[in-house]
Amino acid sequence: MLRTVAGLLVVTLAASVAQAQNLDAIKQRQNLMKANAEATKAPTAMMKGEAPFDLAKVKTSLKTFQTNAVKLKTLWPADSKTGGDTKALPAIWTNMKDYLDWFDGFAKDSKAAEAAIKDEATFKTEWPKVVNYCGSCHKDYRVAKK
Ligand code: HEC
Repeated sequence: MLRTVAGLLVVTLAASVAQAQNLDAIKQRQNLMKANAEATKAPTAMMKGEAPFDLAKVKTSLKTFQTNAVKLKTLWPADSKTGGDTKALPAIWTNMKDYLDWFDGFAKDSKAAEAAIKDEATFKTEWPKVVNYCGSCHKDYRVAKK
C-alpha cells in the first residue's frame, strides 16, 4: 500500500515536472518578447518625432534585441507547441531552421544598426530595418491578432 502511494507520487511528480518545463519555456519566451516590445517604445516615439532623438536609449534597445535573440533561440522545445496560452504557430516546428535563422538575422542586423547609428539621420534609416523583423516573423510564425 505504502509502496503504491509512493509510486504514484513519483509518477505524479514526474508528470508535473515535464509539464512545468514546457510551460516554463512558453512563459520565458513570452516575457522576452514583452521585453522586446518594451525596448521598441522609446525609439518608436523618436521615429514619430514624439520624443527627442537619444542615441544611448537606441543603443540600449539594440543590445536588448541581441541578447534576447540569443535566449529566444533556445525556447522552442518540442513539448512547448501548446499550452500556457501560446500564440506560436505549428509552422515553427516544421520549419525550425528557417525560424531560428530569423533570430540570427534579427541579432545580426541589430548589431549592424548599433554600429551604423551615429545620429538622428542614420537612426531613421537603420531602425526600420531592425523592427521589420518583428512583424515579418510574427506574420509567418505567430497567431494573427483578431
Ligand atoms: C523569429 C521570430 C520572431 C521575431 C524576430 C520577433 N518575434 Fe515576437 N513573437 C514570436 C512568436 C512565435 C511569438 C508567440 C510566442 C508564444 O506565445 O509562445 C511572439 C510573441 C510576441 C509578443 C506577445 C508576448 C506575450 O505577451 O505573450 C510580443 C509583444 C512580441 N512578440 C513582440 C516582438 C517585437 C517587438 C519584436 C521585434 C523587436 C519581436 N516580437 C520579434 C516571434 C518573433
